[in-house]
Amino acid sequence: MKTLKLGVAGLGHVGCGLVDLVQKQEKLRLPGKVEVAGVTARNRSRNRPVSIESYAWYDDASKLAASDDIDVFVELIGGSDGPAKVAVETAIKSGKSVITANKALIAMHGQELAELAREHGVDLLFEAAVAGGVPIVRVLRDSLAGVDIQRVTGILNGTCNFLLSEMLSTRRPYDVVLAEAQRLGYAEADPTLDVSGMDAAHKAAILAAIAFSADLDFSQVSVRGVDEIELLDLDLADRLGLRIKLIAEGKVTPDGVVCRVEPLAMPIGHPLARISGSLNTIRVEGDPLGAVTLTGPGAGPGPTASAVMGDVAKLFNPIARPAFGRAEHHGVRKFVRAEPNERSAFFLRVRLDDRAGALAELTEALAESGVSVDKLLQDSADENGAAPIAIVTHICSRSDINEASDRVRSLETNVGHPQIVAIEEATD
Ligand code: HSE
Repeated sequence: MKTLKLGVAGLGHVGCGLVDLVQKQEKLRLPGKVEVAGVTARNRSRNRPVSIESYAWYDDASKLAASDDIDVFVELIGGSDGPAKVAVETAIKSGKSVITANKALIAMHGQELAELAREHGVDLLFEAAVAGGVPIVRVLRDSLAGVDIQRVTGILNGTCNFLLSEMLSTRRPYDVVLAEAQRLGYAEADPTLDVSGMDAAHKAAILAAIAFSADLDFSQVSVRGVDEIELLDLDLADRLGLRIKLIAEGKVTPDGVVCRVEPLAMPIGHPLARISGSLNTIRVEGDPLGAVTLTGPGAGPGPTASAVMGDVAKLFNPIARPAFGRAEHHGVRKFVRAEPNERSAFFLRVRLDDRAGALAELTEALAESGVSVDKLLQDSADENGAAPIAIVTHICSRSDINEASDRVRSLETNVGHPQIVAIEEATD
């Protein structure tokens, strides 16, 4: 029976989850035996949920990457640059296949690393980099190679989805729920990567590059996170029949591939609106398939480690397939910026001083920008005398709603920043 020797760099939640799986591999369906031949992390003596005493310790990830004692380098350090990137390059140049869960690295440098892997005839696998335990990378790359994909949408950050659904269902504030997500091991070491939308954007860009055979260019991805979404927005949206979710989208347009992440308000019956907690979901639409949706645990040590182990299983028969599934005969497709003038209905939330005529001024400001009100909900003023108002607009352009928001901001009665969230159309 073949044995595959792993060098594991990074012993955080996922690294320990992987070591745990290696230690109980008789329960798995691997094609051979897996050994941990060496480990490295920032701190050797930290308390960990698994024992690493029997493994060779390396102080330097690149030394482990180059070691003759390993067959495969598993990078679980994180970060788009620095030691993770150097170690991955070292492993590839030493003729070793690499498995990584590092979405920032792949989103920022995946194109050049894929090329380096091709030159050296090794595999670069990153199933765990996108959507944790949901096997979307290989499904897009291999299983759906026979589909002309038009659009990929989904929920790709468990922390943000957990935050938005828990805040609303438990009426707990943002900070408390974020701390819980960190404790459960969903959040990144630096949770601003989660709440700023950057983590989801890294994943969306990777999926878009595979789905559309496009040159991954992260600089073209538009990103907005959940850090400005308040419980008030979630509550008012709920009362208007909408759920606010952080949605990632990649699609083909005549100009190129558009990729973005932003909060969207979905009708409560929309399939994406029903995905709660740390679940991730990805919907792939294309010809002649129609649509397929994968949903599952998108974060957490166990699910993510299982995705790494799936890649390990693949390397018992390495084939050095192009990392993004992109063959040389595929045409060049570019990432382009999202069109600023797209049309949609919008959820607009403002706070106004509660005095006579304030509402009239608000609707007049909207009308001056050509924005028409479909639904309107006003609550009683808060302890500071500011009344929250939520509006669902009729379909208008983003530039119209932005202009309307600027007008609202300049009203004397306006308090704070208006919140604008595009509304996703209902789907079957
Ligand atoms: N921090 C990520 C999330 C998990 O919350 O989805 C790892 O990708």
